[in-house]
Amino acid sequence: MVGVNVGKSLVIASLALLWSGVAVAQATQPVTLAVDLNHAKGAVSPMLYGLMTEEINFSYDGGLYGELVRNRTFQDRPNSPEHWYLHEGGGGDATMKIDRTTGPSAALPLSLALTVRSSDAKDSVGVENEGFWGIPLRPRTSYKGSFYAKADAAGSPVTVSLVNDQTGLVAASSVQTLGTEWKQYDFTLTTGEIHASSDNRLRLSFGKPGTVWFSLVSLFPPTYKGRVNGNRPDLMEKMAAMHPAFLRFPGGNYLEGDHINERFEWKKTIGPLVDRPTHISPWRYHSSDGMGLLEFLEWCEDLKMQPVLAVYAGYSMRQEYVKPGADLQPYVADALDEIEYVTGSTDTKWGAERAKDGHTAPFKLKYVEIGNEDWFDKSGSYEGRYAQFYKGIKAQHPDLQLIATMPIKQMKADVVDDHYYRTAKQFYEDVHHYDTVDRNGPKIFVGEWATREGGPTPNFGAALGDAAWMTGMEKNSDLVVMASYAPLLVNVNPGGMQWETDLIGYDAMSSYGSPSYYAQVMFAGHVGDEILSAKADTEAPRFFYSATRSTATGVMYLKLVNASSEPLPVKIQLEGAKRVAANGKMVTLSAKTTAATNTLMHPSEIVPVNSTISNGAKSFSHTVPGYSIQILELETK
Ligand code: AHR
Repeated sequence: MVGVNVGKSLVIASLALLWSGVAVAQATQPVTLAVDLNHAKGAVSPMLYGLMTEEINFSYDGGLYGELVRNRTFQDRPNSPEHWYLHEGGGGDATMKIDRTTGPSAALPLSLALTVRSSDAKDSVGVENEGFWGIPLRPRTSYKGSFYAKADAAGSPVTVSLVNDQTGLVAASSVQTLGTEWKQYDFTLTTGEIHASSDNRLRLSFGKPGTVWFSLVSLFPPTYKGRVNGNRPDLMEKMAAMHPAFLRFPGGNYLEGDHINERFEWKKTIGPLVDRPTHISPWRYHSSDGMGLLEFLEWCEDLKMQPVLAVYAGYSMRQEYVKPGADLQPYVADALDEIEYVTGSTDTKWGAERAKDGHTAPFKLKYVEIGNEDWFDKSGSYEGRYAQFYKGIKAQHPDLQLIATMPIKQMKADVVDDHYYRTAKQFYEDVHHYDTVDRNGPKIFVGEWATREGGPTPNFGAALGDAAWMTGMEKNSDLVVMASYAPLLVNVNPGGMQWETDLIGYDAMSSYGSPSYYAQVMFAGHVGDEILSAKADTEAPRFFYSATRSTATGVMYLKLVNASSEPLPVKIQLEGAKRVAANGKMVTLSAKTTAATNTLMHPSEIVPVNSTISNGAKSFSHTVPGYSIQILELETK
């Protein structure tokens, strides 16, 4: 070991001891790592580290999006109210069914009909929603809800309550009196001294004979920054800690859909929730579209990220495509409308629509991605589709950078999006991937990448693969302008995951970061604005590194990855440094085995440990522990 672990703080032992210690005697010969501080190799892209997101693994519904009611508009299955149950207490007799003849809006034409034949106790009959693997409730907390409803007789009382599954105890309730026309009813339920748990249901009960119809039944806990229709605070905070510069949305395959009519149709995701028809996603579950275009943009605003807007480009995953030319032109026009919704002033049609939806100020936008993974399109239509979108968008927005999803032969794309899903070994072997790529060609966006080892979330071996790969991207970040891991989120409940190895895991109550998550937190949180050339004199197996420096502060960030089990002694030479501070900071992420990981039950097995170094100099010795990712932060002015 390089240091002595005292609780969670790593105290660095005498380096002399380390150089002469048993571990070193067993280990590799010291490697000399020379970092050239005389001249920068290039500029680090200010947008290098960001996030990629789509509706997969219950990322929004049952994840980031705060909604607690599952299947709130009854559209998950055509004829069965999935996740809803009939409650018949106290000798009550009732039925519930989906009624396709009445709903609160054209977008939501159906509803859940509850018919009570008899009920001999107040509120004894009702419908209950089980939430997304439970409804999480905390003590002394207010939950804001609403539902659309009508009754067959005016003055019908409906009681809304939060009920514990185990005890049947009611945590909070509120009564609404219904009329015979569709109307929205709002309520607030505030819990008292309950135990925090997700063993709860939302019940809508109706205690007398007759029929009531419900739709868009909604319940929100407190959200991040108190946004209405907002996001889960713990997940937002975890993402904020990643210092993301951008958010790529809405996909991924979620943008494309399996079929053209199942694509992400942004115009159907804006405005009041009652006007959003919802849609089936390619990840085999129905999307509420509560996370619509404006919600994505507000997510960007909350975390100070720039949107990287992916527009539907005429290809859906079952080999359905729109021919370039006249057939494609409506899709180009739709993308232009979308860009106007994001960036237009309130004098424009879609800018005014955005203001009507609650956001007057336009959003900053630099990158627009044309489609997703269009190499899957066997027709070869992408060259033509990209060119047509390029011409149409550039004519109105010459400053936008348009990302192609595969290499383009007939023209120079501004940026090309490369995707890598790999093993750690594959990443180790390919860390020099971008070293020799032509700098006169398109810039690179690594829009999806991950070491896929471990599930549902990556293990420490995956974090090592990720860190190695990130050193390669960072060294080449004059070319690699942006990079985002995928997928970002996973609900770890049974049935929650469609794609194994996801950065952040959660259930209804809590969340955790994987070792790979912490590797990203470390990398994005410690980066300068200039790339320094760094070179080891010998190729130590599984040793990776990258160095950047801040021009403003002179702080150098040296990233070291030792993916072997043995400690690695390194002699660090800072060539051309005028002065190097003796005292510096160090962050270490390490584990005993590559299989080690974090889980919901054990979320902090592997977390970054802050410590200091005191032997910083123009030339100094350091030992990188086996299986570790380290960042050394030294002032070099
Ligand atoms: O990240 C999961 C999926 O992988 C994305 O939706 C798709 O773009 C890629 O194939």
